[in-house]
Order: sequence, then structure tokens, then C-alpha cells
Amino acid sequence: MIRFRVGLQCLLANLSVQLVSAQGDYTQYVNVFQGTTGGGNRFPGVVAAPFAMVKLGPDVQSGNADAYSGYLPSGSIWGFSMMHESGTGGAPKYGVVSQMPVVGNVSNPLADLSQGRASEDQGQIGYYKSSLANGIVVELAATERAGLYQYSFPQGSPASIVVDVSHVLPSFRGLGWEQHYSNANFTFYSDGYQGSGTYNNGWNLSPDWEIFFCVRFNQKPVSKKTFQGTGTTLTSYDSRDQVSGTERVGGVFTFTETNVTSRVGISFISSSQACNNLDREIPDRTSLQSLVDRAKSRWNNEVFSKVQISSANSADLQLLYGSVYGMFLIPSNLTEENPGWTSTEPYYSDQFTLWDLHRCQTPLFQILQPVAYEEYVRALIDIWKHDGYMPDARSSNFNGRVQGGSNADNVLADAYVKGVRGAINWEDGYSAMVTDAEKVPPNNNDPKAPDSSTKEGRGALPDWLKYGYITPSFTRAVSRAVEYSANDFGLYQVAKGLGKEADAEKYLKRSRNWRNHWDPNCSSNGHSGFVVPRLADGSFVAQNPLSCGGCYWGDAYYEDNPWVYSMNAPHDIATLKQYIGGDDKFVDRINKLFDLKIFNAGNEPGFTSPFLYNFVPGKQHLSVQRSREISKSYNSGPSGLPGNSDAGAMESNILWQMIGLWPLTGQTTFLILSPWFPEMKINLGNGRELKITTTGGNKDTAFYVQSLKVNGKQWNKTWVTWQDIFENGGTMDFVLGSNPTDWATGELPPSPASGDQ
Ligand SMILES: *[C@@H]1O[C@H](CO)[C@@H](O)[C@H](O)[C@H]1NC(C)=O
Ligand SMILES: *[C@@H]1O[C@H](CO)[C@@H](O)[C@H](O)[C@H]1NC(C)=O
Ligand SMILES: *[C@@H]1O[C@H](CO)[C@@H](O)[C@H](O)[C@H]1NC(C)=O
Ligand SMILES: *[C@@H]1O[C@H](CO)[C@@H](O)[C@H](O)[C@H]1NC(C)=O
Ligand SMILES: *[C@@H]1O[C@H](CO)[C@@H](O)[C@H](O)[C@H]1NC(C)=O
Ligand SMILES: *[C@@H]1O[C@H](CO)[C@@H](O)[C@H](O)[C@H]1NC(C)=O
Repeated sequence: MIRFRVGLQCLLANLSVQLVSAQGDYTQYVNVFQGTTGGGNRFPGVVAAPFAMVKLGPDVQSGNADAYSGYLPSGSIWGFSMMHESGTGGAPKYGVVSQMPVVGNVSNPLADLSQGRASEDQGQIGYYKSSLANGIVVELAATERAGLYQYSFPQGSPASIVVDVSHVLPSFRGLGWEQHYSNANFTFYSDGYQGSGTYNNGWNLSPDWEIFFCVRFNQKPVSKKTFQGTGTTLTSYDSRDQVSGTERVGGVFTFTETNVTSRVGISFISSSQACNNLDREIPDRTSLQSLVDRAKSRWNNEVFSKVQISSANSADLQLLYGSVYGMFLIPSNLTEENPGWTSTEPYYSDQFTLWDLHRCQTPLFQILQPVAYEEYVRALIDIWKHDGYMPDARSSNFNGRVQGGSNADNVLADAYVKGVRGAINWEDGYSAMVTDAEKVPPNNNDPKAPDSSTKEGRGALPDWLKYGYITPSFTRAVSRAVEYSANDFGLYQVAKGLGKEADAEKYLKRSRNWRNHWDPNCSSNGHSGFVVPRLADGSFVAQNPLSCGGCYWGDAYYEDNPWVYSMNAPHDIATLKQYIGGDDKFVDRINKLFDLKIFNAGNEPGFTSPFLYNFVPGKQHLSVQRSREISKSYNSGPSGLPGNSDAGAMESNILWQMIGLWPLTGQTTFLILSPWFPEMKINLGNGRELKITTTGGNKDTAFYVQSLKVNGKQWNKTWVTWQDIFENGGTMDFVLGSNPTDWATGELPPSPASGDQ
């Protein structure tokens, strides 16, 4: 039975290589509903190209559930809007520039016009369809900065479209992060309408920000009225051409035709730029199908074709391409759409957040989208130049929030050590990092963390500079200290590269400051030594390593406990091993993360810990075993992500498992795991390719590394460098088998901050 299956799989594998490369339509493997439920919060609507500004989809209400991406699988639809985030937690952001179709004349456009669904929503890359209970069918397609709504109304009643500019996604969590509508301007304009809406707040506590729209219908309405009102009470509802103000404003268009199409352009700059975006990208009479085809071919050509595997297993293909898709829905490329300043540099917003992304999403972003990645790094630096600080998170063109350190430092360091140069001004890049490391950001008086800035930079810098650790006078003191250490390691790397030796020395020392929180006497489950809160007089605070208090903004550890944060010194592992008590204790400590069910595959601070076995001679197979365990919490279905997608952080994690490597951000080191496929090819651009093969085993039952050749040469290390396989491409040929072997007898991975030991 087993033997027969293996044989069949091999046969299918060969067929599929030809199949996949021959027709080149990888979009067929992507379930746009992957990770949309169970806390994944991924956006299933139309994103017509990687990094597109427009994310067009339904806005759903269901009791008090927050609809982070607008979508919820059940509940009623109360609009279809042009902008969303993907995979975020905290509170919903955007859900603006909406339309809502209604059967019949509309007596009060301020009333609840939501509709249940007649059937489940359907979607593919570039296409979305909702069938409403009242018989209306809405089909959506888009481009980067415009969208197309195609409505089919039931016969026999007037067909109305309501535009309520006050429409914005609500939050019911009561955390003070709900968005507010501020004011709007709505004007009838030739064959449609234009104007703008202004909104504020959200998770990043943004001040007022404005989005402009320009909309054209393909039919002439029999009636059009503007409205204005507060709550559900109308102040006016008549034929005047323009309404504006802080009341709810908008318009109602009624048609006799059953098929109505509207084209919508948006812009952060002006209504006329919204019209330009619309007319350039979706000219009159553009068919929905042509937009869908274009979106598919863009995703195929620009993204999916970069990664090819030899597998006929549809679950694998779906998980692979669905995960790649989930990585590039945000950030948004807003070049030429920056309302804040004029610059020749590229501009990207919707970072959500580098706290989530810096471990494994940004290193894979660089590999799969090198052109965009360079633009993205330039944009981070340009934000510093004009706004004062690089973001850890940014949306609606406003920095915020900062959960831990200034992790743009890690991202820049990673780009620097991996040779990203192009048009990046690295002197500016380094200055941006020094701002993070030296300049206390003004306190934005966040009620959740009133001690210091949650907007940008490192709010707890005064303690960091004074004591070399962070006292409990600052919230999240321990987890911030752990992250500040990694941030300072990033500064060390770039300073060293730029020949700033005194700075390099200083920041290398500072990168070791996580050690100042290490209480060797703090114990838990057979282990001593954990990072704990520390007072100004130097004494440690008693701490249960299994507890993080509330794990939130006001606590000593953010979103994970001391066990997890005590493993977070990826630049200083030799020291960490020594502190923990040597190799055997170190192995046991990683084991305990799993045995005690501390490890959470869905939370980023723990992402790297399962693979640190590679730092112990003869234990690489345990990293492989953990990798396979983690993989079980993923699939291509709606609940197929173990946590929030977090802008693709979660998806990039499983992709590295498939590749069989794990990045250490800010270093050129990649830890070796065990690849999934007989063959995987990654196109690195400029004719370079990384080709990874496995023979002798399989991903499910015989996955332990028996031997490895890198670029044709026998390999005995548990790690490779950027230069070995990515800089000029390369090959990795694995032999896999059912039992662990002691194949990796060579040098251990580097611990660059541990040199003082
Ligand atoms: C809808 O309103 C129009 C005038 O605005 C009117 O002529 C028509 O009879 C109304 N239709 C229905 C079904 O109420
Ligand atoms: C609203 O838009 C119209 C047309 O673009 C413009 O003339 C008017 O000044 C705007 N009103 C406000 C309050 O912004
Ligand atoms: C209206 O749209 C429906 C559904 O897309 C389509 O079947 C029908 O042919 C269209 N009718 C007209 C008159 O275009
Ligand atoms: C980002 O947008 C700008 C302006 O539209 C464009 O020139 C640039 O090519 C885009 N970047 C990528 C990676 O597509
Ligand atoms: C740890 O405990 C020992 C024994 O009680 C004590 O001598 C030592 O000072 C403690 N170390 C720290 C750092 O508190
Ligand atoms: C590991 O491989 C290197 C390079 O081939 C070789 O020089 C070294 O002796 C090997 N080490 C062990 C312990 O086999």
C-alpha cells in the first residue's frame, strides 16, 4: 500500500512539473479565502497586483465582531469598499470609499441597508463575487489605483446605489482604537460623482487623513439625490449637486437598467488625480473579465513564477502559492500618492508591522521581490527624512504603533549585509537608524502606555542609555530591552560596513544589553536564568517565567512570556547557551517550550526558537522535527493560518519551512532545516537561481537530513550564508531519510555578539 502510493506520487510529480510550467497559471492554486477566518484576518477581496493600493472587497457586520479586513464569513454586507488592510489585529483600519446596492427606491439612505448573503462569497485572484439575499449580484475587479463594480439587480424594481462617505470599518473592542469619520465632500460630477472623505484614529491613533474619489457609471440614472444627516435622521435629501461637512453625506443613484457598472478611482492627493488614476487604469468600456485576466497574469509573472516546485500534491501547491500570495497584499506601493511631502523617492505605507515582519517576511520579500524591496527600504528612509523616524508600523500615512523595538533597524541591517545597494543612500539609512538608537521620541501620551511614545522610535531609550537596561517605569520593559538589543546589533552591522568603527564597537556592546535583564536565579521547570524586570538600583524583580502578567501594552512582557523572550538573542546565541547551562540544558530548554505548551506557532516572538537546535552539535534533526510539527498548523483553507496573517509574517514562516532554511535577520546566516519538495527553484533575478533538491526521502515520513551538497560540495554545517547560495544563486542537494544521522559535524553557526566570551 505505502509502496504503491510512493510510486504513484513520483509519477504525478513528473507530470506536474510539465503541467505547471507549461500553462503557467499558478493562480488556480490560490484560495483567496485562505487565512480569512479563525483569527487569520487575511483580506480575500481583489488585490490586482502585488502591493496595489486598492484592496476592493465587502464590509461585513456580524454582532460585535471586528471585521479586520472588512470580511467575515457570516453576517450581512453593508457596503463594498476600496481600501483594506490584510491580516492585522488590533482594530480594523480603512473600509472607505464604499458603495451599497439597494433594490428599489431608497427612502432613507442613512438607515441600515445591509443585506445577508444568498450564498457564500466567491473569489479568485483578481475577482470577487457576492450574491445578496435580495437578489443583487455584485462582482468586483480592480487595478492598482481603481476598481470596477459590476452590479446585476433583480428585474422589476428600480436599482439604487447608495454612496455614504461616512462609511468606515468600526471596532467594537472598546480599546480606543476605533476609526472615526470626520468630514466629507460629495459632488455630482458628469457621469458620476467625486469628492473626499476624512477619517481619523484606528490602531495607530492617526489624526485626520483624507482620501479622494472619482466615480463614473455606465448608465444614466433616472434619479440622483444628495443627502446629509446625523445618525439616521436626514437633514436634507434632494437634488442639490454638492454636500459637505461633518454630518454623514453622500448620494443615491437610481437606475431603470438591471445591469449597472461603476468605475472608481482613488487618490490621496486630489479628486483630479483620482480621476486620472481611474481613466488611465480602467477606461470606459473596460470589461471586468479583462481586468481579472490582467490581475492573474501580473501575479503569475511578477510573483508566482519566481517559485517552482515539482509536486503534484494539490495541497502542497495550494499552500505554497496561497502563502506567497498572502505575503504581498500589503504594504501598499503609494509612490506618487504621498500626501505628506514631495520626493523623488518611492513611497510605501501599510506596514503592519515590522515587529511581526522582520524575522522572516522581510528576508523572503527581498528574495522574491528584489526590485520592490529596494524601493521599500528607500521608502523607510524617506519617511525618516520627512517625518523624523522610520515606522515600525504605518497606515493612513502616519507612523504607529510601536510594540517593542525600532525594528526597521533590523530590516535595514538585513538589507545592508545582504548587499542591497541600488539607489539606497546608506549614509542616510544609517542616520535613520542612529535616530532610533539615540533620540528619544516625543511622548504621544497613549492611554495604553502613557510612559513613552508608541508612535515611533524607542520610547524607553532614556533607561536604555542610562542603565543599559529598562526599569519598570517603562511599560513592556523586558520585551523592549530584548528588542533594543537586536536593534543595536543592526546598527553595529551597518556601522561596521560603512567603516564607522567607533560606532560599531559601541553598538556591538549595546547589543549585549539583553544580558543585563538575565537573572540567573530565576527558575522554572528545571531551568534557571530568565530575562526579568530590573529596578534602577540594579536588583531583579521576582518573576514567574511562565507568566507575562497581562502580556499587553502596560505589562513587562508584550504578547509572550519570559520563556519565549529569554530565547530572543539570535545574534548572541553562544552566550545564551552558556547562560542557560550548556548544550544539553539548551536543548532541553527548547524542548520545554514545546512540552510545556509555551510555544505558539501563531506568535512572532517565538518564531526562531524551534530552530536554535542548529547551534548544538548533532541536534539539527530536532529543528527539522519542530519544523514538521509547526507545519501541521497550516493549510490552504480559511482557517489555515495559526494566527493573524500579520501582513504575511505567518505565511512567510511556512514558506521558509518548505524551502528548508530559516533566516537570522541582520546576519547573512540561514539555518538549515529540511526542504519539502524533490525540487524547488527560486528565480533570484538577473539570471540567478537557487535550486534545492531532495532525494531518498519525503516531506511527511522520511525528512531527516542524511547528507547535503551545497554548490556540488559535501556540506557539514547546519547553516549557509547569503553569499553561499543567494548572492549568485546556487544549489543545495539534500539526501533525506527516516532516521536522524549525525551529518553536521562542522563549524556551528556564528554568534557575532558573543566574541567577548
Ligand atoms: C421610485 O421613484 C420614482 C421617482 O423618483 C417613481 O417614479 C417610482 O414610481 C418609484 N418606484 C417605486 C417602485 O416606488
Ligand atoms: C467640495 O468639492 C467641490 C468640488 O470639488 C469644491 O468646489 C468645494 O470647495 C469643496 N468643498 C469643501 C467644503 O471642501
Ligand atoms: C446582466 O448581467 C447578467 C449577469 O452578469 C448577465 O447574465 C446578463 O446578460 C446581463 N444583461 C444585460 C442586458 O447585459
Ligand atoms: C511602485 O509604484 C510606482 C508608481 O506607480 C511605480 O513606478 C513602481 O514601479 C512601483 N513599484 C513596483 C515594485 O511595482
Ligand atoms: C543568586 O543566588 C545566590 C544564592 O542565593 C546569590 O549568592 C547570588 O547573589 C544570586 N545572584 C543574583 C544575580 O541575584
Ligand atoms: C567540514 O567540511 C570542511 C570543508 O569541506 C572540512 O574542511 C572539515 O574538515 C569538515 N569538518 C568535519 C568535522 O568533518
